[in-house]
Amino acid sequence: MDEEYYKTKESVEEYIELAKDVNGSELIEKLKKVLPSNSNILEIGSGPGSDWKILNKSFNVIGSDNSSEFLKHLIAMYPNDEFLNLDAVTIDTNRTFDCIYSNKVLHHLKDKELEDSIKRQYRIVKSKGIICHSFWKGEDFEIFKGLYVNYQNEKKLKHFFKDYFEIISIISYQEFEEGDSLLVIGKKK
Ligand SMILES: C[S@@+](CC[C@H](N)C(=O)[O-])C[C@H]1O[C@@H](n2cnc3c(N)ncnc32)[C@H](O)[C@@H]1O
Repeated sequence: MDEEYYKTKESVEEYIELAKDVNGSELIEKLKKVLPSNSNILEIGSGPGSDWKILNKSFNVIGSDNSSEFLKHLIAMYPNDEFLNLDAVTIDTNRTFDCIYSNKVLHHLKDKELEDSIKRQYRIVKSKGIICHSFWKGEDFEIFKGLYVNYQNEKKLKHFFKDYFEIISIISYQEFEEGDSLLVIGKKK
């Protein structure tokens, strides 16, 4: 069923197949410019684990997701590594990190949820820590495959992050079409 997208075995298998040639290598190159290698990263919404695998080459990364089906897949692929069941809003962990990273995850949060997530990220990122998140660029929101998609623009993103993170850059980039995506990199205030 649509509202269970990312939660059922079938939808997770479908997403893994659809996204098999997509990864955040370009985003991670930008992150590497501001984050020392071997830093501790929490990835939110690791999904198929494509970005986790790239991040893991340069950093100590812990993957996470709030979908037990994606977590099953990640644990089966990488049995010696640790993955956490975390929701992007509450990020319910006692650990702290040098960086929190996500690629096309936080657009599933409504504005208030995104605000709560950013406040929580502020708490679990170490002093001068880094956040690096991508969003779909646009206005308003839509429901796609039963999932909430919250489009963002530079102005809104600056507003959400400004009290907690100094914005290092907001970069417009292409996922499928020119300028359809935004990458925010910030440093804890
Ligand atoms: C569009 S996929 C992106 C996955 C991966 N980052 C990638 O780039 O392929 C969105 C991912 O975010 C996860 N997700 C959605 N809402 C979430 C939430 N509230 N907390 C944690 N993960 C969430 C989904 O289960 C899925 O793995």
